Amino acid sequence: MSKVKVGIVGSRFQADCIAASVKMMPDEAEVVAVASPTPGNAEAFAKRHGIPRFYGSYQELLRDPQIELVSVTAPNRLHATITIEAARAGKHVVCEKPLCVTLEEADAMIAACAKAGVLLLYAEELFFAPKYVKAKQMADEGAFGRIHLVKQGEKHSGPHSDWFWDVEQSGGGALMDLGCHGIAFCWWFLGKQKIRSVYAQLSTQVHSARTQGDDEAVTIMEFEDGALGIVENSWNRPGGMDDSIEVFGDKGQTYADLLMGNALATYSEVGFGYAVEKASMTQGWTYPVFEEHWNYGFPQEMRHFARCVRGKETPISDGETGRVVQEVLYAAYASAGLGRKVQLPYRPSGISKPIDLWKRPELALSPS
Ligand SMILES: NC(=O)c1ccc[n+]([C@@H]2O[C@H](COP(=O)([O-])OP(=O)(O)OC[C@H]3O[C@@H](n4cnc5c(N)ncnc54)[C@H](O)[C@@H]3O)[C@@H](O)[C@H]2O)c1
Repeated sequence: MSKVKVGIVGSRFQADCIAASVKMMPDEAEVVAVASPTPGNAEAFAKRHGIPRFYGSYQELLRDPQIELVSVTAPNRLHATITIEAARAGKHVVCEKPLCVTLEEADAMIAACAKAGVLLLYAEELFFAPKYVKAKQMADEGAFGRIHLVKQGEKHSGPHSDWFWDVEQSGGGALMDLGCHGIAFCWWFLGKQKIRSVYAQLSTQVHSARTQGDDEAVTIMEFEDGALGIVENSWNRPGGMDDSIEVFGDKGQTYADLLMGNALATYSEVGFGYAVEKASMTQGWTYPVFEEHWNYGFPQEMRHFARCVRGKETPISDGETGRVVQEVLYAAYASAGLGRKVQLPYRPSGISKPIDLWKRPELALSPS
């Protein structure tokens, strides 16, 4: 069967990651086009990655008849519109995290893809990160007995692009940006069971001059079988990205540090090119990672999605996964606003972005 033809919408951080990842596992897919509204960016991106076609708008890319799968790497606020238009154009969609901004958008995206008979694939790469996959395989084998606690943390010094800091475009702060990974991770790790309740503590500790968003977040999820998921997020951790898990059962536990744990303990007085995402310096002691995309699972994720397009595999992360995460994000922001646990299902209506439920707790009480 021919390789799945991928078109990327966006040409910066995550677009680079997707293009490089598809190239790392070239047996199932190839990137044939990129679109970006910033003059010159799509062309430069295409040159950098050896991509044959580039467009100045995603609408043009959607008209490209060769493209079968669209990777949406635009800011959160645009995920729903681009996905829905892509579905109407008959393209399968890989949407970056978080799936969208509102639960209504999540419903509309899922419905549009179902109606068009295309796949909506939710890009949660932690489901493919080899170290975390190993932890889950051991857990599923029973290595840790009955698991009662799963922790996931993702922390760095703050996002690279301005739009993340603008809650109108992002929908929320560190919880929305990074917590979506941990929420999905705990849910997946614990067998995709129902989530009973959510409690969150949020604050803006360092960046209040720059953002209305939370820059510190702790979220606790209570699952149907009584297990807990704890998700810790921060935009205030210098020293490069930190991504780690801890899993506890009555027969054992495992700890996995995705980046520092897969790095070279290094000392350099003069520094060098690159250590890890968001590390501001490379002098002194640092932890340069190798095969960064591979360790995160991005190439494996894109290969899986391409195989899903060809009907060779069934998606392990789809629009429904994104909607579960979106509901927990709503509940977490509402919990922080109300100062108490929020029971699921939780479906307040007419919310324009999750963070409003924290800033204006009266909205969190609106009828579902
Ligand atoms: N899975 C992950 O670990 C991960 C990592 C980083 C980002 N992301 C997600 O990917 C998305 C993009 O983040 P990023 O870090 O690449 O942001 P970025 O600011 O680096 O890039 C955003 C891109 O979107 C493009 N864009 C803006 N408006 C557009 C439009 N109307 N049409 C087409 N393209 C448009 C910009 O030109 C730019 O190329 C976000 O949703 C983010 O949460 C996921």
